[in-house]
Amino acid sequence: MELFDLTGKVAVVTGGTRGIGLMMARGLLQAGASVYVSSRKADAGQEAVRELEPYGVATFIQADLGKESDCLLLAEEVGAREEAVHVVVNNAGATWGAPIDDFPAAAWDKVVDLNLKAPFFVARAFLPLLEAGATGEDPGRIINVGSIEGLRVPEWPTFSYSSTKAALHQLTRHLARDLGPRHITVNAVAPGPFPTKMMAAMLESEGDAITATSPLGRIGHPDDMAGVTVFLSSRAGRNVTGAIIPVDGGIELTT
Ligand SMILES: NC(=O)c1ccc[n+]([C@@H]2O[C@H](COP(=O)([O-])OP(=O)(O)OC[C@H]3O[C@@H](n4cnc5c(N)ncnc54)[C@H](OP(=O)(O)O)[C@@H]3O)[C@@H](O)[C@H]2O)c1
Repeated sequence: MELFDLTGKVAVVTGGTRGIGLMMARGLLQAGASVYVSSRKADAGQEAVRELEPYGVATFIQADLGKESDCLLLAEEVGAREEAVHVVVNNAGATWGAPIDDFPAAAWDKVVDLNLKAPFFVARAFLPLLEAGATGEDPGRIINVGSIEGLRVPEWPTFSYSSTKAALHQLTRHLARDLGPRHITVNAVAPGPFPTKMMAAMLESEGDAITATSPLGRIGHPDDMAGVTVFLSSRAGRNVTGAIIPVDGGIELTT
């Protein structure tokens, strides 16, 4: 099999209906995988499937991953259609910014539930399907989407966001140790700024200043997320586990 070929593989991307998840889903499809994308909104899901259709077979499944029951449901729905899953991408995430004196309890509950607890519940729910497709030579893959905000200290008051991303990086390492013997790799990608809905306001007001902090003088492009996802999902990445890979043009080095 070619080093980066994903023909015949089945992948799941949470929050795959827009932004970074859509970039990752597109990359997986282009490498030959079939892809399930999930999110809360059915209309956005159908639109994403239409957008992905030119690249391969994409299917939408509705799930609110802030609830453990929907994390289980997502695995059940995929399991009703597939005998095995080869790649699970925990991408769905949310942020919340508010000054410390006004930072509400809800900003912890919502962000911890989606950014930290959901990747654990989703990973666990998919273990039987991942094990069904995994071998020592070609392990199953879990890819968690962290952030450079979990590696550095952001200048914005996004306390629950940065904390959950740092915790997700550590969860990635812990799961990698636990699941390696079950032939499953677990890695995290830590993106810098990418032009998505989550980042729209910040890039609108501070885009040039942010770009100037990158040693490479650029922010993320969809191919950058597609590329790292295909690497970690393919034979090329089969011996990598427990890694936190910044995809940020080096911004984390300078800020
Ligand atoms: N954009 C960046 O520059 C950047 C940088 C570093 C890290 N990241 C990380 O990359 C990931 C994606 O970010 P993004 O910028 O692409 O965000 P985005 O544009 O806001 O997209 C988020 C995706 O997650 C889904 N989602 C949100 N809440 C959900 C829930 N409760 N249950 C299920 N799905 C849910 C959304 O769909 P619905 O609204 O339909 O549910 C959407 O598909 C996040 O983990 C984020 O922290 C982003």
